[in-house]
Amino acid sequence: ISIMAAQIHTLVSAKWLLDAIKKNHIGPKLRLLDASWYLAKTKRDARAEFVRTHIPGASFFDIDDCCDKNTELDHMLPTPERFSEYVEELGIGNETHVVVYDTHDVGAFSAPRVWWMFRLFGHNTVSVLDGGMKNWLHNKYPVTAEYTKPEPQKFKASQNKSWVKNYEDILENVQTRKVQVVDARSAGRFRGTEPEPRDDVLPGHYPGAINIPFYSIFNQSGEVMSTEDLAKLYKEAGVDVQKPLWTSCGSGVTACVIILGAHLLGHPGPCLYDGSWTEWFKRAPAEYIVSEGQDKSK
Ligand SMILES: *[C@@H]1O[C@H](CO)[C@@H](O)[C@H](O)[C@H]1NC(C)=O
Ligand SMILES: *[C@@H]1O[C@H](CO)[C@@H](O)[C@H](O)[C@H]1NC(C)=O
Ligand SMILES: *[C@@H]1O[C@H](CO)[C@@H](O)[C@H](O)[C@H]1NC(C)=O
Repeated sequence: ISIMAAQIHTLVSAKWLLDAIKKNHIGPKLRLLDASWYLAKTKRDARAEFVRTHIPGASFFDIDDCCDKNTELDHMLPTPERFSEYVEELGIGNETHVVVYDTHDVGAFSAPRVWWMFRLFGHNTVSVLDGGMKNWLHNKYPVTAEYTKPEPQKFKASQNKSWVKNYEDILENVQTRKVQVVDARSAGRFRGTEPEPRDDVLPGHYPGAINIPFYSIFNQSGEVMSTEDLAKLYKEAGVDVQKPLWTSCGSGVTACVIILGAHLLGHPGPCLYDGSWTEWFKRAPAEYIVSEGQDKSK
């Protein structure tokens, strides 16, 4: 671990970022990313919102662009080469401290996915802005429409493949129940009583899954709750942060909020089922879909 990596905090406060901006620290050593992303049904255009307003010095990270485009599934992980090429264009080199935020009302929605992608691709000098744009605006800190494209840098990605789980891994685990799996969707989507945001998917969950809705880790200001409260949340849900942990959600985005929380509690490497419920629902036999609502076979 380099000295720099040891000093990097998983969460940085709005005050910390404001100071860094005022001191003109944004540059090749510190890059800020707006990683906002919204489901089609919300009718929010994250990129258009970025063009209108963002935290000074930020660039836009598009999870629908930095992804594997050879699949029907939404924003599946890119190859390490594609990731490197994408972040180099955003002025990120392998010595850049990256800070990620998004504009979701609860504090964070998609930023933790990008935070986790950097870690997956071997870059640990990455933080999430605690409270996101919500808390930034609450503090009346500055925003701007001004944008300057950063100078490209050289970035070299590696990848810890064991962090990514696929359909077959989940299928096997549904039978063996070896690893605890947390699903980050809302309680209603998990139980099958609230519709999925995608028209071709019904709600429910896989046998044995544990539900911790992603927004549960944030408080009123959008910041991550205290470590004590976070530990209590995971423990009461039945999650042991000392043991292997896999996460899932609708399409692999908010599951990373649960990964962020587990990381803050000291978990060494929570994994992600990238295809998540959208893939599971389409591929799994009806007996592996637990729902209080409409049955898949109907
Ligand atoms: C970044 O890459 C350069 C060139 O490949 C290398 O010399 C340097 O040690 C790397 N730094 C880190 C923090 O990985
Ligand atoms: C949210 O949690 C943070 C960190 O524990 C704390 O500083 C902040 O005051 C809390 N905000 C609210 C509204 O409770
Ligand atoms: C990959 O991640 C696993 C789980 O966190 C860890 O045990 C392993 O050492 C990592 N491998 C590499 C090459 O970093």
